[in-house]
Amino acid sequence: MKRLQAALLAMSLLISGTVLADVSVPHLDIGKGGHCVNDPKYMKLNHGDLLKRQRTITVHQGVIGRYSLIRCVNCHASKVNHSVLGTNSNFCQGCHVYAAVKIDCFECHSSRPETVSETLREVAK
Ligand code: HEC
Ligand code: HEC
Ligand code: HEC
Repeated sequence: MKRLQAALLAMSLLISGTVLADVSVPHLDIGKGGHCVNDPKYMKLNHGDLLKRQRTITVHQGVIGRYSLIRCVNCHASKVNHSVLGTNSNFCQGCHVYAAVKIDCFECHSSRPETVSETLREVAK
């Protein structure tokens, strides 16, 4: 009996684990489309570090690089509300709510492409 219970418990854990993995992020609005700045799988794992490294590089050297936040927003903003935030299907918000990872970037940075300054928008095209 004990063994049966243990087996059932193990099975239910297995099942819920699988369900979690399969469900992943529901209906993320990817935005414009096209090609990401690197392989999406790589981006999924590394974008946090890449963005933070880019910030240091840009602030010290004044270049808009491959991983500039401005690029992400320009491409990943939803065509519906023109933002990467706002609803849980918006790109940055949706996944972060799901993953329970808080970021403060958009307290200063724009979450919408059209409010990006003209100069930066030019460089980030
Ligand atoms: C598919 C899910 C997903 C999407 C989409 C996503 N993130 Fe993340 N993000 C995560 C997860 C999970 C972490 C925590 C693990 C890590 O650092 O990689 C994270 C971490 C980060 C971090 C580092 C936070 C810290 O305190 O170190 C930043 C910054 C960040 N994301 C910004 C963004 C921005 C900006 C966008 C939209 C352009 C975005 N993320 C889209 C899942 C996502
Ligand atoms: C307190 C305000 C503030 C916060 C919070 C903040 N930034 Fe910034 N960030 C700035 C300013 C100011 C600059 C330099 C001016 C510019 O280039 O827009 C900058 C520049 C950058 C750049 C280089 C320019 C670009 O668009 O690529 C990156 C990358 C960047 N920040 C990423 C981040 C990320 C990622 C977060 C969140 C983890 C974050 N920042 C949070 C104020 C902020
Ligand atoms: C020119 C458009 C474009 C730019 C610029 C861009 N992306 Fe992407 N990104 C995409 C597309 C399209 C996908 C989805 C590709 C796929 O699923 O095959 C994607 C996928 C991703 C994913 C994986 C999402 C998931 O559900 O697994 C992350 C994370 C991501 N991008 C973050 C970023 C960040 C951070 C930046 C800025 C440094 C950025 N992207 C810049 C178009 C872009």
